[in-house]
Amino acid sequence: MKISTILDQAISTAMAKAGAKEAPAVVRQASRPEFGHYQANGIMGAAKRSGSNPRELATGVVAALDLPIASSVEIAGPGFLNIHLSPAYVAEQLQRLTTDQRLGIELRQAKKILVDYSSPNLAKEMHIGHLRTTAIGDAIVRMLEFLGHDVVRTSHVGDWGAQFGSLLAYLDTLNDQDIGTELSDLEAFYRLASEKFRNDETFAARAREAVVKLQNGDKKYLSLWERFIDESIRHCETVYDALDISLAARHVRGESSYNNDLADTLAELEENGLIEESDGALCVFLDEFRGKDGKPLPAIVRKSDGGYPYMATDLAAVRYRVRELHVDSALYVVGAPQTLHFQQVFAVARKAGFIADQDFRHLPFGSILKSDGKMFKTRDGADVKLIDVADEANTRAFEVVSEKNPSLSENERRQVARVIGPGAMKYAELSKNRTTDYIFDWDTMLSFDGNTAPYLQYAYTRARGVFRRADLNAGTIQGTIILYEPAEMALGVKLLQFEEALDATLEDYQPNLLCNYLFELAGTFSTFYETCPVLKAEGELRQSRLLLCDLTARTLQTGLSLLGIKTVEQM
Ligand code: ARG
Repeated sequence: MKISTILDQAISTAMAKAGAKEAPAVVRQASRPEFGHYQANGIMGAAKRSGSNPRELATGVVAALDLPIASSVEIAGPGFLNIHLSPAYVAEQLQRLTTDQRLGIELRQAKKILVDYSSPNLAKEMHIGHLRTTAIGDAIVRMLEFLGHDVVRTSHVGDWGAQFGSLLAYLDTLNDQDIGTELSDLEAFYRLASEKFRNDETFAARAREAVVKLQNGDKKYLSLWERFIDESIRHCETVYDALDISLAARHVRGESSYNNDLADTLAELEENGLIEESDGALCVFLDEFRGKDGKPLPAIVRKSDGGYPYMATDLAAVRYRVRELHVDSALYVVGAPQTLHFQQVFAVARKAGFIADQDFRHLPFGSILKSDGKMFKTRDGADVKLIDVADEANTRAFEVVSEKNPSLSENERRQVARVIGPGAMKYAELSKNRTTDYIFDWDTMLSFDGNTAPYLQYAYTRARGVFRRADLNAGTIQGTIILYEPAEMALGVKLLQFEEALDATLEDYQPNLLCNYLFELAGTFSTFYETCPVLKAEGELRQSRLLLCDLTARTLQTGLSLLGIKTVEQM
């Protein structure tokens, strides 16, 4: 059981014994070492509610407390409890972890959870804006799977609609072989097609016709469209490979896959009396959505030209996810500008009975900015391609590694760079609160100091290096954990808090909380490493410290892997 849970239960029981009505304990990890390891701060509130004196209540709680895992509990300030864990208890828990592959984290009761992430529009190449949804979504997926959930990865790509008209009309002017060549450079292809669309009236007319033909199921246009979509998904896969993202073509279920469900979806909305006509369009008006002027805001489900907008596809997708996939929960990792869209989707879907008690949630995130605080664009205002950013991460990581460790062979440095580059980029993303904008800065993210991936990866190599230097196999170390020095105790407690960190992270899907934990762990390890000799220690102490190094390495490695970040043995 998590330490915070044990403390919560014991303190709640003691509070009830001491006479507090409704007695939630509210135990948190202490923010400073002098506060002990944990702090309980629910006593003041409970005292206020029952009209008693907080310090008196606290005294009663301590007297009634049955807490063998603590070595001391002190009352502080107006009624906080500072709790110091007993070294024997911490050592005993760590001992269990030394033989536990899962580092003490038990599998949860499995739920089926769909994560909708990455989801680019295929009429354009993936750009830097897709980094956040892709990195955050992939981390969430890995954490949920680690806990034993049945996770459905889904990329709800934009693969249908008017934006494909010019691409198809352009492909239509080419012969079979040229189509292959054109599609091999998607970037140039997009540019040529949109230039033609802007400058050539006849072409623009053909582009509009192409959309209609495609939507009416014209064989030739459908097959051109399929070729284009396949190529474009292959391109996404290249980006995922470069960034070590666990999404692949088989996880794509794009907007077009709901084409045949749209009419039925609307029919159900109609049956539920939700549809109203407005200026030729079909809309759902819900009371809770009103514009600034107080007028009701429509959710448009069919446009006046008969086309189905984004809203309709998303409603069909919700219906499919509940009825066909039977998900318990669905998480949409999509930028904050789409907040209103998802509020409407989920509200309409609930009214229509598509969602009952399933948990559908939008997980919004902010934008990526340049160091001048402006939006991330190229000099001529174009989007920065994600594949270029991934390549640059590699090049820069290679330079950093070459500088730090010139003794590695070029080949080794290249391999290390392939781990460091994407890891640094993804960690920069994940370590920030996802709801705020953040500044993309190569030097910061590739630094070996501070809350960065290279810092954590380096801490891992230090913990593993101990075994390499002594030519020991970490898996065969035997011994008893003894927590003697304060630095050993601090490291031991941190190691036990992995599960608390993971649970906190998944409460509101905030990967930055797991990042903070790993950063703190690396810090406590660093203090331990500098103050407690490992290989120079003797006998039992040496074995115990080796076990602590191994637990640290495994926790860092597992934690990073849950963020989608690999480790290397040397860097
Ligand atoms: N393709 C959309 C975009 O690029 C994101 C799709 C997100 N998922 C969803 N179910 N709407 O903005």
